[in-house]
Amino acid sequence: MPEAADLPQRTGEGARPEQAGEGSPPIEGGTPEQPVAATVVQGVVAGARGAPVTLRDIVVPAPGPGEVRVRVRACGVCHTDLHYREGVVGDGFPFLLGHEAAGNVEAVGAGVDGLAVGDAVVLAWRAPCGNCRSCRRGRPWYCFESRNATQPMTLLDGTPLGAALGIGAFAALTLVAAGQAVKVDPRARPEATSLIGCGVMAGFGAAAIAGGVGRGDTVAVFGCGGVGDAAIAAAHLAGAATIVAVDVDPAKLAWARGFGATHTVDARSEDPVEAVRAATGGFGADLVIEAVGSPTTYRQAFYARDHAGTLVQVGVPDPSATIELPLAELFGRGGSLRSSWYGDCLPSRDFPALVELYLSGRLDLDAFVTETIPLEGVEAAFERMLAGAVLRSVVVF
Ligand SMILES: NC(=O)c1ccc[n+]([C@@H]2O[C@H](COP(=O)([O-])OP(=O)(O)OC[C@H]3O[C@@H](n4cnc5c(N)ncnc54)[C@H](O)[C@@H]3O)[C@@H](O)[C@H]2O)c1
Ligand SMILES: [Zn+2]
Ligand SMILES: [Zn+2]
Repeated sequence: MPEAADLPQRTGEGARPEQAGEGSPPIEGGTPEQPVAATVVQGVVAGARGAPVTLRDIVVPAPGPGEVRVRVRACGVCHTDLHYREGVVGDGFPFLLGHEAAGNVEAVGAGVDGLAVGDAVVLAWRAPCGNCRSCRRGRPWYCFESRNATQPMTLLDGTPLGAALGIGAFAALTLVAAGQAVKVDPRARPEATSLIGCGVMAGFGAAAIAGGVGRGDTVAVFGCGGVGDAAIAAAHLAGAATIVAVDVDPAKLAWARGFGATHTVDARSEDPVEAVRAATGGFGADLVIEAVGSPTTYRQAFYARDHAGTLVQVGVPDPSATIELPLAELFGRGGSLRSSWYGDCLPSRDFPALVELYLSGRLDLDAFVTETIPLEGVEAAFERMLAGAVLRSVVVF
């Protein structure tokens, strides 16, 4: 692999870091003779809105203060990666995709406590700062100043890459803030634990944390991809009495049953609102999770609630999407309408807990892994995701 010294230099914002050496902060992972250097690996890059992703050489700097570099072992393909490619998340192309990842710490920058080279970690896209107005109020799961690596990863010509959700892990190495690397039990296989880094945590937490699902509750989940099925698994674990899975794809509904759905509804062939009511004694569900991100499913989810029920929106909408609802219905039905980012999780608390559930056989993360693919398979995996052929494709290295 070429090292930083072989690469074109940049100055100013996004400048390549100095290599460790005299006067540099210590970096764990190298040796005095061979300090850790910026390294070139291949990464999956979205270069322009809607254009197919390509494999590009990317420069991953040596970790600076407060940063760690992680050898990625597995990274799931999440729908949000496709949103990046489509320009839904923003216009900051080029993006380095991949954000649902597990691996091992490869090098540690100065001032990093609690992480050592070799530690098994799951990467988090929220790393509470401890200092913003939300953290100070004791709500770090909403941290508004979440930490990311301060040095950018770049293309060979120095062009900075927007790392998807501050991670960028469709690459053999990635650079993150130390707080983003959450130490987990190394006995769990990374193909499974990687999914905790986004979709599984988002869905599981939407039901268990944001939705507060409890024993005997009735639950409906709209959209049974990786995110929706994790919500179903959480509802099942919590002892929900009825779990209605709604999708437009029979294969997804079959998977949903495997995670604990008690009823399935094909929204192409029946009215999902009526079907949820029928499955819940005519009332509607106590908790409805919207895991698609469309106005159609949001509206259905709204009406599929029982009186005073809760709707948790997890699906990421297109920025142009709008919704109109009768104000009297909003008032009269009561309850709560909320959105949830990342399942309102606190990664340092919840990632190890989900790994524990996995290792003890209570959360079947393996069932989310439909296939493992090589790095060059991401574009084709997007197609299979859209065709409904997979729950999760996971890139392995
Ligand atoms: N809020 C968060 O923190 C967070 C985190 C991860 C993902 N997401 C978002 O959650 C959503 C789901 O992600 P995913 O990875 O599970 O995606 P996915 O593509 O695997 O699953 C989406 C599912 O919705 C189904 N669907 C599509 N139209 C439908 C309709 N009209 N009615 C019912 N079902 C329908 C699809 O068949 C598919 O099974 C995406 O919008 C993603 O961006 C949000
Ligand atoms: Zn904060
Ligand atoms: Zn994701």
